[in-house]
Amino acid sequence: MLVLGIETSCDETAAALVTDDGSVVSDAVHSQIKLHAPYGGVVPELASRDHLRNVRPVIREVFAKASLEPSAITGIAVTCRPGLTGALLVGVQAAKGLAFALDKPIVGVDHLVGHLLAVFLKFPGAAEQAPAEYPFVALLASGGHTAIYRVDGPRLAQVTELGATRDDAAGECFDKVGKLLGLGYPGGPLIDKLAKDGNPDAIELPWPMRRKGSLEFSFSGLKSNMMRWVTEHGLPGDDQKLRDVCAAFQRRVVDTLIWKTLEAARAERVRTIVLAGGVAANRELRERSAAQAAVHGIRVVVPPFKACTDNASMIAYAGIQRLALGENDAQSLVTSPHTALPQSTKKGRGKRED
Ligand code: KG4
Ligand code: ZN
Repeated sequence: MLVLGIETSCDETAAALVTDDGSVVSDAVHSQIKLHAPYGGVVPELASRDHLRNVRPVIREVFAKASLEPSAITGIAVTCRPGLTGALLVGVQAAKGLAFALDKPIVGVDHLVGHLLAVFLKFPGAAEQAPAEYPFVALLASGGHTAIYRVDGPRLAQVTELGATRDDAAGECFDKVGKLLGLGYPGGPLIDKLAKDGNPDAIELPWPMRRKGSLEFSFSGLKSNMMRWVTEHGLPGDDQKLRDVCAAFQRRVVDTLIWKTLEAARAERVRTIVLAGGVAANRELRERSAAQAAVHGIRVVVPPFKACTDNASMIAYAGIQRLALGENDAQSLVTSPHTALPQSTKKGRGKRED
């Protein structure tokens, strides 16, 4: 099977051609980072307009790179949820038009399932790693979502949420703290780079919520503590202090993510942890999770860097799982701002279940 994937749920317009063994034949990502940077976050209206400009060029690009005609594909997979409605609509309409014109099947993909399966992608020239094996526990940490899942197979019904954030997503916390420190957008990769040369123990900061047995996260307290620190000590310049602050903040986010994910893997008695989503590109998270899991005989499998942040290859691969069973959403495909994965964590304040 050769499937065209299309992704337009947030601030990346992406297309990819992927085969059923997860091999990426060609991919293209047009990032809107520069467009949204002056606003410090994604502006939905600007996002949809930019997707509209770029969706056809990225689709053409992947066929040109692969020297293939559109008629060569088996079907189309497109992100239909969760995401910004206007942005999702652009990808879904483009996919429907193409499916109709080519008379090919089309399936909608939940963006979160795409992230969870990104670990199975094989990019040309990338180092081969032993594939992840089901069942595994996955930490999905991106700009919009942070949750731990048990994954028994590639289908939506085989994914169970074990716990999620009560408030901010981990990536959102990186981005807000990056903004607070005057670093620009998105804060995650910028903090990651600065933290490399910082000392995480040089700055005193409280740790985020860590109740034993709970697999829920809360990052809003850490964000407030960072604000308090800046109020008390002033904004650090481009110096060692800034690197130390980034290192201390990052250590708290990363270790919290690792502790809870390890706790989940041990409770579920699985031997494999998969990291997914944009925050899985974080250098410290990749290194420290592997070391800490090894102590418990657990293996951590991480997607290649470019498969962690938003891309269409993961959408194509997730769609292949449905297309292979003969499924076809055809022209009835609709969008939704919400994930189709059942959620166990209640957002916001209030009594927690113990
Ligand atoms: O998965 P993604 O590309 O988009 C969403 O679906 O949200 O994730 C983007 C998020 C942003 O919040 C970004 O700051 C964060 O991933 N991110 C990182 C790193 N690279 C991207 N966070 C920490 N360290 C990184 N190296
Ligand atoms: Zn994403």
